[in-house]
Amino acid sequence: MAKNTLSFVCQNCGAAYNRWQGKCESCGEWNTLAEEDTSGSVPVSIRSKRKGRTFALESLAGKSPDAPRFSSGMAELDRVTGGGFVRGSVLLVGGDPGIGKSTLLTQATSLMARAGHRIVYISGEEAIAQVRLRAERLGLSDAPVQLAAETSVEDIVSTLSEGAVPRLIVIDSIQTMWTDTVESAPGTVTQVRASAQALIRFAKKTGAAIILVGHVTKDGQIAGPRVVEHMVDAVLSFEGEGSQQFRILRAVKNRFGPTDEIGVFEMTGLGLREVTNPSELFLSERDLGTPGTAVFAGIEGTRPVLVELQALVAPTSLGTPRRAVVGWDPSRLSMVLAVLEAHCGVKLSGHDVYLNVAGGLRIHEPAADLAAAAALVSSLVNAQLPTDAVYFGEISLSGVVRPVAQTPARLKEAAKLGFQRAMLPESARGETGGDAGLSLNAVNSLTTLVAEIAARGSRRGESNAPAEKNATPARFRRGEG
Ligand code: TYD
Ligand code: MG
Repeated sequence: MAKNTLSFVCQNCGAAYNRWQGKCESCGEWNTLAEEDTSGSVPVSIRSKRKGRTFALESLAGKSPDAPRFSSGMAELDRVTGGGFVRGSVLLVGGDPGIGKSTLLTQATSLMARAGHRIVYISGEEAIAQVRLRAERLGLSDAPVQLAAETSVEDIVSTLSEGAVPRLIVIDSIQTMWTDTVESAPGTVTQVRASAQALIRFAKKTGAAIILVGHVTKDGQIAGPRVVEHMVDAVLSFEGEGSQQFRILRAVKNRFGPTDEIGVFEMTGLGLREVTNPSELFLSERDLGTPGTAVFAGIEGTRPVLVELQALVAPTSLGTPRRAVVGWDPSRLSMVLAVLEAHCGVKLSGHDVYLNVAGGLRIHEPAADLAAAAALVSSLVNAQLPTDAVYFGEISLSGVVRPVAQTPARLKEAAKLGFQRAMLPESARGETGGDAGLSLNAVNSLTTLVAEIAARGSRRGESNAPAEKNATPARFRRGEG
């Protein structure tokens, strides 16, 4: 009797079950299980007859040449890939629909094709006419990119096996591809995995680089092909707030280069423009001198990036106050709020708290704790922070401000952009060599920072709003609601 190979596969994480259930126990998602044939392409009868061949085992020592790379023609893209595309490598580019993945790849492929490489762009989502229209809008119609609207992996592989090996192949998107070797419908995990496998095999065999475009679900995971993330050499994520024109390309995984390196772009009417100095961009529309804003001196990959954190703390009308955060880790915010309450006597349980990272950047560093705390307290007491100061430092659960990496690079960037002061962890002061060009204010603990900002608030209260004179410091009393 033939073995039944149908099983239920979670479309989010790829876990397989032999019966249907509402919730995937592996990733916790609901209603993601779909029936698929998971038998694979090799029949059992053949598999069992195949005799293993022997191969030579190598030693760990020995020289391997550097991976041969070629430039994409866009400096920001090269930065993220670690210096250009590696031959025979496969990249996955993920991002929300409409973020600009096709635009970015149309621009990059056109530049490479103009430089004389054979570049193939396979669109599984858009008709040729649509791709042409975009190229026309970008002023790239004359670029010798080879274009096709195809979705069958077998057809694509046989077509590309003819003639010169392409330098780069773009597959837009992997979810639209399908292969005959498996039975499932296009877009299912099994199809996506099998299609990606076939394309990866082609890349490794011929030395052509392949870029797979992948869609992203609402919670930021690359949909379906999370399984693909493990198979490819690099995963790049294209991020940005829909309403903002800034776009950030981030390396999430890279077998041939550093991760956490970012490339910054601006979406214009004529496509994506590379932004070589992101700090200037993120600070360009600063609300100078508004309470609740602090400038964070951050590091993205190897590059320092200055960005404004904006906080709003307002009395709540709800039983459970709101905590909303854009561009930063919500659990990190909860931690900073808890430390403020527990160690500094700042009572926030009666307040809604909003925190926003300006410009659509997403910060992953704990070094932003100090800037976030400063912005929060500044908003609470309605006291403006010094406009010429940057903040960085990690806050521990005991309220101590801890040192962070790469202090000199952060200070240099701040000085370059005309900042005069840096609020930083005490121990970081020694690392700067004393010639940072900024005045350095060490902040030992969060209590010190809160007291300083509160003092600014009360000073301001005395001169401008006598009625509020006693209100501000009183908010710091423990237990006051
Ligand atoms: P697109 O590259 O199609 O996104 P994706 O492939 O990630 O789904 O980009 C779509 C958006 O970009 C669309 O809303 C229009 C905008 N856009 C511009 O603002 N300027 C341009 O020059 C182009 C080509 C697109
Ligand atoms: Mg697209």
